[in-house]
Amino acid sequence: MKVLVVGNGGREHALVWKIRQSPLVTELYCAPGNAGVAEIADCVPIDASSIVEVADFAQTIKADLTVVGPELPMVLGIGDEFVRRDLPIFCPSRGAAEIEGSKAFAREFMSRHNIPSPRYEVCGSLEDALAFVDKAPFGYPYAVKADGLAAGKGTILVERAEEAKAAVDQMMDKKIFGSAGAKIVMEEFLRGEEVSFLAFSDGARVVPMASVQDHKRALDGDQGPNTGGMGTVSPATNLRLDAHKRIMQEIIVPTIAGMAKEGRRFQGVLYAGLMMTEEGPKVLEFNARFGDPEAQAIMARMRSDIVPLLQQGAAGQLGETRIEWAKEPSCCVVLASRGYPESPETGHVVKGLESLKDWGDVVVYHAATKKEGDEVKTVGGRVLGVTALGANLESAIARAYEAVGHISFEGMFYRKDIGHRALSRLQRPR
Ligand code: AMP
Ligand code: GLY
Repeated sequence: MKVLVVGNGGREHALVWKIRQSPLVTELYCAPGNAGVAEIADCVPIDASSIVEVADFAQTIKADLTVVGPELPMVLGIGDEFVRRDLPIFCPSRGAAEIEGSKAFAREFMSRHNIPSPRYEVCGSLEDALAFVDKAPFGYPYAVKADGLAAGKGTILVERAEEAKAAVDQMMDKKIFGSAGAKIVMEEFLRGEEVSFLAFSDGARVVPMASVQDHKRALDGDQGPNTGGMGTVSPATNLRLDAHKRIMQEIIVPTIAGMAKEGRRFQGVLYAGLMMTEEGPKVLEFNARFGDPEAQAIMARMRSDIVPLLQQGAAGQLGETRIEWAKEPSCCVVLASRGYPESPETGHVVKGLESLKDWGDVVVYHAATKKEGDEVKTVGGRVLGVTALGANLESAIARAYEAVGHISFEGMFYRKDIGHRALSRLQRPR
């Protein structure tokens, strides 16, 4: 069968890498892909957000399945465009992708369906927002969030009234996130440890994936600005079996059911960003897609063929599947360009990739790379995701960092402490 993957990041390289291993797949395309993807699939130079062109291409090659990585094409309605043309796609409709595309919609949806969440207030005008800041009913700190997509930068945690006012001013008056800041959501600050929980859904049934923990801040010790994610470990060792059950029962299953009830049948990957609070898991945010770099750590551990799952999800006929996972944990370390996330440098040559080709337990997923002649060059902030498996978490982490030691590019930086919470948990006496 012919499969098309849409997107150009590390997540898409991980998906292409996994799909490539399926005996069902004869032709594999990626729009637009990157230098790593190009080694294992045919890259077509169509931007992921050009949804009509992507659909035209899928129609021309008669793609049997299309899988979408990033949120923007989802929110722009790529799912609906494909369905209208009767082309199979594993991607939520525009209406279903609202769960990621609008934080106000997502919070109000969670209230309607009793899904564990922080207290929140949606402010639709500058006056409302400033009145909220004056009262600060949740105390400090709290989260100020732009309603719409803001490339992962739309959340500001504020400690004082002046900071809250500045955040409101930036979003609603200066409009730094454009129309995404027309509404904002104020949220109670949740304390605990974060975890990412992803599941395949066909709109009714749900098949959960292995748990994973991301590291959002740019610098060691969870310092510095929020990023798209600097590294992941899977499984998330803070999730015991009872927590897994609660997340499914209290969050994932009611969300899929609630979306169906509201006429927004969710066919795709539901990704819940959760805070494990003292009262149990609560939703920080929902995404309508695979996480990046969550997908890298997850794909490295997935033993089952992913293609039937994607196909069944697209057809609305997910079976009673249980995914088989490698017992070995995985760790993905993101190598980023100086200046990320604000203004990353680009155009530097990446060295050392060849030397890792034969490391069976390590995969280097490309993100912001392109091939120029014989060289691989950086084209954005998150350049590579070096991902390793290990007999236990310590060895997966150690192996990933050992591999990182072989790669270099001008201005390369990465966190040295991916998995630090999981490691300290292991070292703590029981
Ligand atoms: P979001 O844009 O909603 O994904 O938030 C980005 C990051 O901000 C999350 O990964 C959390 O680390 C933090 N965050 C967001 N909302 C809250 C909240 N209500 N309480 C505590 N931390 C939060
Ligand atoms: N790693 C966070 C995200 O994909 O949104």
